Amino acid sequence: MTETDFILSNFDVAKASCGSVTWKTPSNIALVKYWGKQEPQLPENTSISFTLNNCCTITTLEYKLKSEVQNSESEFNFEVFFEGKKKDDFKPKIQKFFQRIAQYVPFLKDFDFVIKSENSFPHSSGIASSASGMSALALCLMSLEKKLNPTITNKYFNEKASFLARLGSGSACRSIEGELIVWGKHPEIEASSDLYGVKFPYKVHKNFNNYQDTILLVDEGVKQVSSTVGHNLMYNHPFAKQRFKQANNHISKIKEVLQNGDLKEFIAIVESEALSLHAMMMTSSPYFILMKPNTLKIIHKIWEFREATGSSICFTLDAGANVHVLFPEHEKEKANKFIVNELIQFCQEKHYICDSVGKGAFQLTMDN
Ligand code: DP6
Repeated sequence: MTETDFILSNFDVAKASCGSVTWKTPSNIALVKYWGKQEPQLPENTSISFTLNNCCTITTLEYKLKSEVQNSESEFNFEVFFEGKKKDDFKPKIQKFFQRIAQYVPFLKDFDFVIKSENSFPHSSGIASSASGMSALALCLMSLEKKLNPTITNKYFNEKASFLARLGSGSACRSIEGELIVWGKHPEIEASSDLYGVKFPYKVHKNFNNYQDTILLVDEGVKQVSSTVGHNLMYNHPFAKQRFKQANNHISKIKEVLQNGDLKEFIAIVESEALSLHAMMMTSSPYFILMKPNTLKIIHKIWEFREATGSSICFTLDAGANVHVLFPEHEKEKANKFIVNELIQFCQEKHYICDSVGKGAFQLTMDN
């Protein structure tokens, strides 16, 4: 599929005068990280993530056909509510998203929209909500597109939802389906694309069934470095080229590991990715340290525990201080005990979220 395949040209706005649609869409955690992009939101390297199950955004899109015929000069008209409250400060991001996707969903200016969103996790938890939030909105728009053009296939629906979500936030394109999603063209991953996420196309070893992710909330504040600022740090970064190469090599390796079930090698790749991501931030200009002392304490505890018990528990990080603790389902009891007894003391107010790999977004309602 190319960009032009995603331009909706044949549609009838009269097929949807007013109504609403609701999607529940998960967050995801990258195993090989996306860090560095080119316009328009194209990744510098391939990334792969586990789709999560419990950390979700629920978004309702209410739409009403405008009474007058619109022209291309007219404006987008929408209101945004987050957890029941009107949120005008969310509007610029959505306005920018609408501008970016308007050529692919040309009906945007024909409708008045009300967007109502809520997260299953606390907004202040430091968990990035852009992946679940943008993918939920993209899916709502695709449901509306399907009303206007009912002939589209499920495959096209998901691919275009991922394509649109990517234009809102890169990692959001990995939050449409489960359980393992690859984004970014890679010679060894069939059908992979820079334009949208695809399901990992090979048989996954049973070791990774229902893999667990317990998120330790070390720092519940607002992100110190926004992703946009962070990605920009990769322009002219002294180690950028090497980093993109490393990530693509990790994709080749993790492709094998996910099929052969080698947990030792899985841990080596995943932890190296987390630390490489943070190393990029520490060596950029300006530079940042996004880990907190407690992030490091948790990492050391995990290493000690693994050494002492032979467990397959490991960690990954996104662009912040929180720690995602990953482990196979059969270690759940042992790992939970360790987490509660030894790790949650390092969390803010002992807050943590138990999650596991999920199957992707699903539509909750659609009425007329
Ligand atoms: C560290 O997708 O949030 O979580 O495309 O600017 O919206 P934008 O960035 P975003 O970046 C996520 C980066 C990451 C790694 C990852 O999820 O792959």
